[in-house]
Formats: sequence, C-alpha cells, structure tokens
Amino acid sequence: MKEKLEQIKESALEALKNAAAEKDLEALRVKYLGKKGDLTSILKQMGKLSAEERPVVGQLANKIRAEIENNIEQRAEKLREKAQELKLQNETVDVTLPGVRSKKGGLHPLNIMLDDMIDIFRSMGFDVVDGPEVETDFYNFKALNVPDDHPARDMQDTFYLGENLLLRTQTSAAQIRTMTSRKPPIRIICPGRVYRADEVDATHSPVFHQIEGLVVDKGVTLCDLKGILEQFAREIYGEGTEVKFRPSFFPFTEPSVEVDVSCPECRGKNSSCRVCKGTGWIEILGAGMVHPNVLRHCGIDPEEYTGFAFGIGLDRLTTTRYKISDIRLLFENDQRFLEQFDK
Ligand code: PHE
Repeated sequence: MKEKLEQIKESALEALKNAAAEKDLEALRVKYLGKKGDLTSILKQMGKLSAEERPVVGQLANKIRAEIENNIEQRAEKLREKAQELKLQNETVDVTLPGVRSKKGGLHPLNIMLDDMIDIFRSMGFDVVDGPEVETDFYNFKALNVPDDHPARDMQDTFYLGENLLLRTQTSAAQIRTMTSRKPPIRIICPGRVYRADEVDATHSPVFHQIEGLVVDKGVTLCDLKGILEQFAREIYGEGTEVKFRPSFFPFTEPSVEVDVSCPECRGKNSSCRVCKGTGWIEILGAGMVHPNVLRHCGIDPEEYTGFAFGIGLDRLTTTRYKISDIRLLFENDQRFLEQFDK
C-alpha cells in the first residue's frame, strides 16, 4: 500500500509538472485528491490493514496529500505569474514609435477668400444675407429693371427650370429680396453661387460665385461707393492699390461702372504680366447707383433714398490672389491642389 501511495505521489507530481493551465490543475486535483480520486480510493482500503500499519499508512497518506496539494498551489502560482508576464508583454507600448497622424481637412481657397471678404465688409457695418439659388424670373430680371424683351437678357445666358423658374444668374436678385423685406437704411452683402450657360474653359465655368453688396440710405452717393470699394481693395490687395471706375451698363444701376484695381502682381510695371496681360489693371466687379425704377419696384421712394450696389466675382479674386491659372481647379476637388491652401 505504501508503494501504491508513493506511486500516486510520483505520478501526481509528474503530471503537475506538465500542467499548462489552471484548469489542468483542477482536473489533476480531482483525479488524485477528489472524492473518487486515486488517493481516496486507496485510503478506503485502510480497513484491511493491521492496527499497527494503519497509523503509519494514514500518516504517509496525509503527508502525500499535503505534498500534492502544496505542489498544486505552487504550480498554480507559477502559472499565474507566467500569465501575468505574458499579459504585460502583450500590453507593452513602445512610446518611441511615431504616432498615427489623423488627416486634417482644410478650407477651400474660395472659402478662405470669402471669409476674408466677409470680415472686411462686416467691419464696415454690412450684414450678411442669403438668397435662394433657384429664383423666379421676377427677382432675377424683372424687378431688376429687365423686362421680358429687354436685350440685356442676352448678356447672361440663363438656365431655365421652367416658365418662370431659373438658376439665378447674379446675386443681384438678393437686392430685391432685401429691399422688399427691410426698410432703409440697408447695408448688406449677399455671397453665393450663380449660374450661366457658359462653355467651360480656363476662365469660365457655368457655376461661379458672386458677392452682392447693397447700401440704401438718405444721401448715398457714388463717392461713398468709391470709398467703400477703395477700402475693400486695399485690404485685399494691400496699401497703395489703385481703384479705377470705367463707365459701363447694367439695367439696374444708373450710372453703372466696372471697377478695376491696379494689378496686384506687377503694379502695372510688367508689360508681359500674366495676371493683367500687361494692362496694369484687373477687373474685379460691376457696380453703380441703384436705378430709381428698382427702388420704386421695392416700394422705396427714389426722391427720398438713394443707394449703390456692387457685384464682386469671387472666383476671379481667388485665382489672382493665389495665382491659380485655371478656374476649373477650383471645382475639380483634386486633393493635391486643395491641400496647398490648408492653413
Ligand atoms: N449683377 C451684375 C453682374 O452679374 C454685377 C452688378 C451687381 C452690377 C450690382 C451692378 C450692381 O454682372
């Protein structure tokens, strides 16, 4: 019996050495020490022993049980340590590795330009208003002093959406919406997209952007228009920028002007300048004093109030500012192009 006990001990200790997980240890405990385990079944045969042998074998059995239990405990401790070590190893962070950079979006050059312009006009007391891109013929043409058969309609090739609906060809439609919903004094700008059925090339796009400006009050003159536009041009293109008015025609302004600024690239000193084509000037907007008919259409008495309006081409300003040679780049969403403007 003693031998059997020793055998159990040997086999248990050997098995424990190879146990690789805590659940294996539990299985071994059941196998050797459990109620139906090997040791227990030996002890059950103790009755057959003589009175002298019984305490000796009993002691030995207890000793072996204690030894196996001890061993199980030690082995369990070892396995726990190993598991912990492995866990630490797996969770190690190499703080010297470079971080994962997340991609940063940026403002579109048109929006950078627009934000700057809004800042300038806000500082001069202008409100920013919004208008619909789908307009009625009334707001885009008729109320702007362009009746149905007026030749001025040919100046702008229009996308019609139906008899009366169209994609606005100019932000000037916002003048009417403003004057019919607010009383003077009025001082607003309205930036937005406009549409014309133009062929696409390096300087034309069927969708482009304008910023309309409108001021209506008592005693407003062409001089005020010039002052505001000079201030604007100098903030955009720098001190010393000259502004030139050229007589022009728009049905909704009288007198009408086109406004040039001295070439920000060459200041008129380079006869082969690509920006101004050697003329020394670039055209940036159309403007004029609001036509009395337009004021009247909106219920404003032209005897009491006068006003001026201007329409700035945002795309042109942006391409000259950033020396972009082709307007199409603004609309193609080529990330390599756009990333250059990330501020
Ligand atoms: N709406 C005109 C255009 O698109 C520009 C303009 C606006 C002219 C306001 C005068 C006054 O050409």
